[in-house]
Amino acid sequence: MKVSFKDLGLVNTREMFKKAVKGGYAVPAFNFNNMEQLQAIIKAAATEKSPVILQVSKGARNYANQTLLRYMAQGAVEYAKELGWKKPQICLHLDHGDSYELCKSCVDFGFSSVMIDGSALPYEENIALTKKVVKYAHKYDVTVEAELGVLAGVEDEVASEESHYTKPEEVIDFATRTGCDSLAISIGTSHGAYKFKPEQCTRDPKTGRLVPPPLAFDVLRQVEKKLPGFPIVLHGSSSVPQEYVDIINANGGKLPDAVGIPEEQLRKAAKSAVCKINIDSDSRLAFTAAVRKVFNDKPAEFDPRKYCGPARDLMTELYTHKIVNVLGSNNKAK
Ligand code: G3H
Ligand code: 13P
Ligand code: ZN
Repeated sequence: MKVSFKDLGLVNTREMFKKAVKGGYAVPAFNFNNMEQLQAIIKAAATEKSPVILQVSKGARNYANQTLLRYMAQGAVEYAKELGWKKPQICLHLDHGDSYELCKSCVDFGFSSVMIDGSALPYEENIALTKKVVKYAHKYDVTVEAELGVLAGVEDEVASEESHYTKPEEVIDFATRTGCDSLAISIGTSHGAYKFKPEQCTRDPKTGRLVPPPLAFDVLRQVEKKLPGFPIVLHGSSSVPQEYVDIINANGGKLPDAVGIPEEQLRKAAKSAVCKINIDSDSRLAFTAAVRKVFNDKPAEFDPRKYCGPARDLMTELYTHKIVNVLGSNNKAK
């Protein structure tokens, strides 16, 4: 049986992005796989009155079960209201959909937005696949994110050694022919906690920490010029906070030379046509840091609430920080 996202109290990205582009901020897109992540995301968004995109990857869908995920998203809307957010602006989005069938299934299942990631395909095949998804999704008012240019690293089950920046000369043709609602571009970000190899970075002589190379803002500017006001999406935007990496490493973990995108670069991107910023790894790091610390400090503890609770608190702090201090999306969905 088909379910409309509207009956679940969810919204698509159309209005969200229009306001974000105009207002010079970005909407957070946080991945979730479990209840604690969802609680933390909703608590932060409801407290800060920030529009929010709940992202589900193919892996998350397999991990958590798609029926359960949908009811969790529906529950999230009610939870947000219970927290005093009168008109929650919550979108349920498929992250890195890799086939028409998967996107269609999510549309039919109550998602309000889907991503079709044809970035690994030849240009014309990416267009054909994206166009097919757009045609189906738009029948149900579900918005579609597409991707042009390849990010280095792992995108769900698709791994790529190298990044290929988006070619600005292709974006008008791509957006016009596919009819997509937003476009993910490649300007030097990548997925995971190791975004750059140490040899691509310099080292801060004082701290010994890796300093990554800057993003290709020139490519972003050219894309903006070609498609004025068109919503642009940045994947792979975790900052890999060193305090979490330090807690993990001090409590039995092993994450040498983990490095992310400096927050000042994301702040700059959020003020541009970039209106959706994807963050997953930072939440994984916060969760892991909190759990490792409890395990190390209290080896006799075996009640999951005693370590998932602190993990949830740390993630709430992280999401709030991103909303208020990096993306600037607070008080934009009152
Ligand atoms: O794009 C990658 C996201 O972080 C999702 O990761 O496929 O491991 O759920 P995942
Ligand atoms: P990070 O791995 O940088 O958190 O990126 C997440 C992402 O882009 C999800 O699509
Ligand atoms: Zn991504």
